[in-house]
Amino acid sequence: MKDPQPQRRPENCAFVIFGASGDLTHRLVIPSLYNLAAEKLLPEKFCVVGAARKSMSNEGLRDSLMKGLRQFATRPVDDDVAQQLLQCVTFVEADPKDPPSFDELRKHLDALECSRGTGGNRLFYLATPPAAFAPTARELGRTGLLKEDNGAWRRLVVEKPFGTDLASAKALNAELLKIMEEHQIYRIDHYLGKETVQNILVLRFANGMFEPIWNRNHIDHIQITVEERLGVGHRGGFYDATGALRDMVPNHLFQLMSLVAMEPPTRFDAHSVRSEKADVLSAIQQPSEAEALHSSVRAQYLAGRIGDDEIQDYRKTADVKPGSTTETYVALKLMIDNWRWAGVPFYLRTGKALAHKRTEVAIKFKQAPLAMFSGTTIERLSQNFLTIGIAPTETIELQFNAKIPGPSVTIDGVEMKFRYGDYFRADPSTGYETLIYDCMIGDNILFQRADGVEAGWQAVQPFLDAWKKAGPNGIETYPAGSDGPACADELLRRDGRSWRKFT
Ligand SMILES: NC(=O)c1ccc[n+]([C@@H]2O[C@H](COP(=O)([O-])OP(=O)(O)OC[C@H]3O[C@@H](n4cnc5c(N)ncnc54)[C@H](OP(=O)(O)O)[C@@H]3O)[C@@H](O)[C@H]2O)c1
Repeated sequence: MKDPQPQRRPENCAFVIFGASGDLTHRLVIPSLYNLAAEKLLPEKFCVVGAARKSMSNEGLRDSLMKGLRQFATRPVDDDVAQQLLQCVTFVEADPKDPPSFDELRKHLDALECSRGTGGNRLFYLATPPAAFAPTARELGRTGLLKEDNGAWRRLVVEKPFGTDLASAKALNAELLKIMEEHQIYRIDHYLGKETVQNILVLRFANGMFEPIWNRNHIDHIQITVEERLGVGHRGGFYDATGALRDMVPNHLFQLMSLVAMEPPTRFDAHSVRSEKADVLSAIQQPSEAEALHSSVRAQYLAGRIGDDEIQDYRKTADVKPGSTTETYVALKLMIDNWRWAGVPFYLRTGKALAHKRTEVAIKFKQAPLAMFSGTTIERLSQNFLTIGIAPTETIELQFNAKIPGPSVTIDGVEMKFRYGDYFRADPSTGYETLIYDCMIGDNILFQRADGVEAGWQAVQPFLDAWKKAGPNGIETYPAGSDGPACADELLRRDGRSWRKFT
């Protein structure tokens, strides 16, 4: 088993979290900072400023973050490391509707930079509801907190969702780019913090054997699956205004799709990688309204059982409108209009309250000609899939045909499976550590650029428009705890294909 490579410490900086009292801060941001602290990967001189609208004492915030850490840490909490981290935390009341509060924040940061010696580098993390992203950035701009001067860097991390459609994503990009430069903006998609997702690039481009066959001549189609067992739980209000398509496709599923489908970048740097990712997303075919309805499936879950849990109808969830048309499941067939992928469908599916939790990319290769086996008992060959498993286990799996031992020629489908955990030692993580670390060292390769975000929304906009027009017509249902709606199977069956079964 191999240990990870040693990494360098980031430059000294102040880390300001807007939304410090919220769930994301407690569940993911602080546990990630804790993991970085435990690995000695935080700057030597470092401070955390927690900001929110409701006032809190420094001690109040530290206690609350400590409770969060005990609940959400991904490894046993070492009290010394935790105390050292939390002693760096102070609270500031900041409300974007109250400009003087941002002037106070500026004074607070100036004072901390002197007392803690953090040197003027600042990372601002927007862990607030999306409605506060632009107003907070505006106040940071007005107070000069984002101005890069005297060699100090100023960076802004923007959480998802980045917009709710193409127009709102463009408006948010335009607003942010009025205030700061693109290189200062870190649009986060936590899927890119996952090792296996990053490894898609390495698998494709650091191995000579895959790229020559990674095209329409050899690949029949590609399936991208992100299935969750959980229903919407107590997030009914948020979910009903969002739905599976907006929540998952332009961000997480398109991150996977763009890594699988992009052209080789000339260099492994942020500019080249992000340009290729944006290019391939912008080559996704724009369907007409009729085509969008024909090549998509949307559905809602009905009551069912998942493990020991009874799940009620989606429409009966608290804060969900009784006649809601919001989808909890979506499947799409997308085509990419370029030389490499012409004629190769990408089937995407994601949903809630399903039988399994799994995330995977499955690449189905074209079938070998059967002709040479005529005259034998072999009537069919198993499918050749290369599958990149991201959750629940991180794997790479190859399915191929092998001869069954014995005097006659009979064939069966077999598989070779590589499990990350068997080969590399990695401490359990939240998935945010790499992203936060990269932001502190100024590497934005794993963050989305404005054109990439807009290309993603552009690709899903025809579906949003067609569904809006169709209203409740065309919404299917599936029982909670099932594999999803039957019409998702039909989407592939009519092309003579089927979804890969979960093994
Ligand atoms: N929770 C997760 O697991 C998760 C995962 C991925 C992405 N996200 C994203 O992270 C962001 C935060 O989510 P969350 O779950 O942490 O939400 P949350 O628990 O509701 O916390 C929101 C935080 O923002 C502050 N806030 C609320 N309204 C504000 C406003 N108008 N202006 C400034 N601050 C405001 C709140 O404190 P005050 O009310 O005192 O200001 C609170 O600290 C959202 O954009 C969400 O989509 C969350």
